[in-house]
Amino acid sequence: MTQNGSIKILAIESSCDETAAAVVSDGRKILSNVINSQISLHTRYGGVVPELASRKHIENINYVVKEALESAGETLGSVDAIAVTNGPGLVGALLIGVSFAKALAFAADKPLVAVNHIEGHVCANFLEYPDLEPPFLCLIVSGGHTHLAVMKDYGVFEIIGKTRDDAAGEAFDKVARAIGLGYPGGPKIEKEAQKGNPKAIDFPRGKIDEAPLDFSFSGLKSAVLNYINHCKMSGIKISTCDIAASFQQAVTDVLVERAVEAALRLGEKRIVMAGGVASNGYIRNSLEKACSENGIALCVPRPALCTDNAAMIGSAAYYRFLKGERADLSLNAVPGLSL
Ligand code: KG4
Ligand code: ZN
Repeated sequence: MTQNGSIKILAIESSCDETAAAVVSDGRKILSNVINSQISLHTRYGGVVPELASRKHIENINYVVKEALESAGETLGSVDAIAVTNGPGLVGALLIGVSFAKALAFAADKPLVAVNHIEGHVCANFLEYPDLEPPFLCLIVSGGHTHLAVMKDYGVFEIIGKTRDDAAGEAFDKVARAIGLGYPGGPKIEKEAQKGNPKAIDFPRGKIDEAPLDFSFSGLKSAVLNYINHCKMSGIKISTCDIAASFQQAVTDVLVERAVEAALRLGEKRIVMAGGVASNGYIRNSLEKACSENGIALCVPRPALCTDNAAMIGSAAYYRFLKGERADLSLNAVPGLSL
């Protein structure tokens, strides 16, 4: 612990295509938050190429960590622990962060804390809302996951709904590719949708009767692909902005309806949103409106804390650190780690 009694954690995140490091104080205050994005590298391939992502992480991680320490005014010796995402994610990408963090912890003789990436997304809210404490209902919408869960206590989740097939972010990425917008799909669809009519095409809102809080986005994705094929075969001119707007509206309707339904069923007065898709302004505004109509408060981090970053990992790590959780040098990457 440092002189003023705060616990400072150096956190490392490399689960997908961002090499990130941050220093976070007491799980709530960002002292530094450095992100090296690989977007320009993967854009030319239309999506994340795992092997290239790993190589870029290796090239960048040393600089990113150094910058995170320097801009926080800290050193390896002055932080209290090293935290790292060990799953879920791309195995090769995760391994770079995990190996680097283990080496740092060993060399500096510091405790090592392993963090679940999805839990990290939820904890981004602790950085945005210093007074927020569990229990609360969360809607987690990222590239790989779509969950409704109750965070019962720090690090303790009960999943009450999840996707049966594609994640919401994955659907954004696939539809973006199909209409020629390319990678990264989410932000490009959001921008294109601003010029389109959300009511132009009536895409399906997937619902599973026997599991009303689960999600399904693969039918929506197929409907968009079928619509494009139909237009091409019939010689109808495709309007990418109308497809983007109508698709985004369908995803929005499903997320909003299911999250509000979960809150009403559980008697929850607050929804905490997290994950890359939560950076979408249209979805944020729509959920905010539906929440206020139903007397529900909405917490959602600023967009830069919704997408992958290491500050959120530093926040999650703090609560694991307080519980005495420590990883040792046998820590491995777990690509399919669940919440
Ligand atoms: O949470 P995240 O950064 O990484 C994962 O843990 O998966 O989420 C990435 C996902 C991608 O599928 C991306 O297309 C989506 O979040 N995304 C968005 C937006 N920004 C990122 N989806 C919709 N609108 C956005 N503005
Ligand atoms: Zn993520």
